[in-house]
Amino acid sequence: MKIIKVKDYEELSKMAADFVRNLLEKKPDACLGLATGSTPLGMYQNLIEMYQKGEVSFKDVRTYNLDEYCGLEKTHPQSYFTYMHEMFFNHIDISENNINLPEGDTANHEEACNSYNELLYNDEIDLQILGIGGNGHIGFNEPGTAFTQETFVVKLAEKTRLDNQRFFNSLAEVPEFAITMGIKNILQAKEILLLASGKGKAEAIKKLVSGEVSVDFPASALKEHANVTVIIDEEAASLL
Ligand code: PGA
Repeated sequence: MKIIKVKDYEELSKMAADFVRNLLEKKPDACLGLATGSTPLGMYQNLIEMYQKGEVSFKDVRTYNLDEYCGLEKTHPQSYFTYMHEMFFNHIDISENNINLPEGDTANHEEACNSYNELLYNDEIDLQILGIGGNGHIGFNEPGTAFTQETFVVKLAEKTRLDNQRFFNSLAEVPEFAITMGIKNILQAKEILLLASGKGKAEAIKKLVSGEVSVDFPASALKEHANVTVIIDEEAASLL
């Protein structure tokens, strides 16, 4: 695992966007694994600016998002479908046909997991972008999730619902379930880029760097992958 320390969120976002641009220069039809949450927003913004300047194109890029809430309509303001379109897809030249997210808005979540898993098996993610939860989750793989887990319906940890409450009117509105790629799917990406910014991530980064590999800390699974880069800012690195 390669750790790159930068000054702040702005630098982290630029470096992450450069990482994606470099990949697309080499492979214009790359397949990207994408994440939501607040951490990758700056990276998306930088990529949009690069696209507007004609420095990068997503015309032939395919994307797979890590996760989606269960029970929210696609058009719900807090669905990850909406987030990805508003924060990224609507501003670049990606083809709608090449965008993939788990289907959270369906009566049959098991079937939605199976079909997402099948899509993932028939494709190969070149670069998976990840954030990290305060409890070490990656995607919505909460502590205790087996590293062999594939796409599944997860009951969100109370800590995760509380962390995400800020985007909803009340805790009661935060969905209790989500569909997430499993850790096994994440580890199948050729390359992984994990981003962490701010003091709130310092403890998780310390555990990631110096803790042991354990299902109690899902991000530790990344130590079993040969090509992982972690970009952290000074605050996230403050306990190292
Ligand atoms: P954040 O979430 O980017 O909003 O901090 C990361 C995560 O929980 O995976």
